[in-house]
Amino acid sequence: FHVDWDLVTAEKAGFDHFMLKEIYEQPKAYRDTMMGRISEDGRRVALKEIGMTLEEIRGIRKVQIVACGTAFHAGLVGKTVIEDLARIPVETDVASEYRYRSPIITPDTLVIVVSQSGETADTLAALREAKRNGARVMAITNVVGSSVAREADDVIITQAGPEIAVASTKAYTSQLIAFYLLGLYLAEKLETRDEKWIANVLTSMNQLPEQVESILDQANVLKQVAESISKHSNLFFIGRGVDFAVAQEGSLKLKEISYIHSEAYAAGELKHGTLALIEDGIPVIALITQEQLYEKTLSNIKEVKARGAHVLAVINAGHEGEVSKSVDEMFAIPRTLPLLAPALSVVPLQLIAYYASLALGHDVDKPRNLAKSVTVE
Ligand code: G6P
Repeated sequence: FHVDWDLVTAEKAGFDHFMLKEIYEQPKAYRDTMMGRISEDGRRVALKEIGMTLEEIRGIRKVQIVACGTAFHAGLVGKTVIEDLARIPVETDVASEYRYRSPIITPDTLVIVVSQSGETADTLAALREAKRNGARVMAITNVVGSSVAREADDVIITQAGPEIAVASTKAYTSQLIAFYLLGLYLAEKLETRDEKWIANVLTSMNQLPEQVESILDQANVLKQVAESISKHSNLFFIGRGVDFAVAQEGSLKLKEISYIHSEAYAAGELKHGTLALIEDGIPVIALITQEQLYEKTLSNIKEVKARGAHVLAVINAGHEGEVSKSVDEMFAIPRTLPLLAPALSVVPLQLIAYYASLALGHDVDKPRNLAKSVTVE
């Protein structure tokens, strides 16, 4: 009797690739990142790892979020979360730009660096630049004891567990969870939102893991979408608000592992140039999860449809009737609060990227030219 066994196969726990395994680990990563950080009555966020006094929190005049790659895209959502919940102005920068644009860093600036590995050279350099200028630095990282974790003043550890695939999935969504927790924490301290409101968001956050599971159950549908996308060499992702932030992450994911060129565009900006590239049959993946921007995005979808685009819309469950007339395909995500939608809407995009890469026969976990952690400038 002989059993083929090797360590790597065993580590993949029955999945064909680490990326797929990590996509499926997201419900657990959400739960683990929330665990111990919500009070027992479910009404408050407890971030014991944050050492700032109430006075220091009240003194924050500006937040700068600095990161690279996928972590930067989490930061784009983080900006909306913090501005919306805590009403503090937030700037976002990719770390390789931040240092060289002589950013205005003051002692009342809170700099948040986001890094899965905690070892990215540009992010670490940005952190040091911020500290040198007297800012307080908070890190959101997945690795305890990493350089970023050691050098930051406050550290929120995402509990995603080790991420092996170069294309980041569960680390990104855990970073979103960390931003939601932080936004609520600041909102409570700054009294920008009342307790009932915060409790309501926490209730919705607790539903996210199961909602992700229900998306994962429909992976087969997304596999088919991905297979047809894999026949194209160009496509677009569009959205508004946090949908645009997720569009950027979806586009990056697809580029990283399928090598198909795509661009993410703010839906309302298309008409200022990019619309010229829309031709018959080009796939457009439109995110349309934000109630308050619904009509606006729908009219952008109609613009690309009228020029021949093949539109897949990622929508909220219940909106099928309204959207179906304007698109070719729909994928519905479970209902949640608008701010939390990225934690759901990115999952179908991860699966599309995964299956497109698979259909093209690429090395999903180790895409060409890319490294998991970039420790040189
Ligand atoms: C590399 C990886 C990306 C990652 C980026 C930032 O480019 O390939 O997946 O998003 O680094 O990594 P970090 O560890 O700082 O989050």
